[in-house]
Amino acid sequence: MKQFLSVDDVADPMGVAREAIQLKSNPFQYQDMGKNKTLGLVFFNPSLRTRMSTARAAYNLGMHVMVLNVSQDSWQLETEDGVIMDGGKAEHIREAAAVMGSYCEILGVRSFPTLTDREKDYSEYLLNAFARHAGVPIINMESATVHPLQSLADLMTIEEHAQNKRPKVVLTWAPHVKALPQAVPNSFAQWMNRAPVDFVITHPKGMELAPEFSGQAGIEYDQSKALEGADFIYVKNWSSYHDYGHLYQAREWMMSLDKLKNTHNARVMHCLPVRRNVVIDDAVLDSNHSIVQQQAANRVYAAQIVIKKLLEAL
Ligand code: CP
Repeated sequence: MKQFLSVDDVADPMGVAREAIQLKSNPFQYQDMGKNKTLGLVFFNPSLRTRMSTARAAYNLGMHVMVLNVSQDSWQLETEDGVIMDGGKAEHIREAAAVMGSYCEILGVRSFPTLTDREKDYSEYLLNAFARHAGVPIINMESATVHPLQSLADLMTIEEHAQNKRPKVVLTWAPHVKALPQAVPNSFAQWMNRAPVDFVITHPKGMELAPEFSGQAGIEYDQSKALEGADFIYVKNWSSYHDYGHLYQAREWMMSLDKLKNTHNARVMHCLPVRRNVVIDDAVLDSNHSIVQQQAANRVYAAQIVIKKLLEAL
């Protein structure tokens, strides 16, 4: 693997998820692989899980880790080419990415979308600038449109908890108090479309994801119909793709215990952070249906298998 920007960099997503599960059973079996190598983690936005799990994954492989919070600790970066830099931005991404790449063997980058300029966000200009100018492999730690480390951990978790060979997996929109990116649902859809599952997306009319991400998934606008017979329910809010960044309100879409009655004793998933009693009811999160903690724990091994594959290809 030369880079990890999206599922398109993974030849066999389920195979990699199974390798990650194997790694989890003996996390230190490659502890010398990253000796004298450094992973740089570059954050333009907040993070709990991605920051800690990716660092932990690198430590398990014997690497050093450096973290840079760009918005707090560094110079403001210009990303447009050809501009006269006489404003507040002191450094261009061309120099910054190349410098970071000279200090690290691998770089991870997190940068959220603006949610105001769809064309710019969906061009992945920042992630692609790092990929072009850093000179080292890039790990996408959640970009404007996708969150592949999360999706790999999600696929691992489904494989670990599946009760049959071809589970029904439902991605359901849920309410929220602020407009959120489409990165997690986009990415989850991409990975599920390449996994041995029956995949359905349910959301209010108008909240369709971009077709290049929803792909061949079944779309069902009736949430209760979609949840019938579900083995896994992935709950997630996203803001509108079509009315870009619009916050849609529909509190009745919150996940609650009564919605699980017609499922196949469904496991409930969420990438976290989750707002209790807005997105998912307490009674669900505190029940045996919830596997959100297992998902979060698997973030370490998803990151570790990716870093291992990048180290092997250096
Ligand atoms: N799920 C996830 O990426 O969590 P963080 O935003 O805390 O990293």
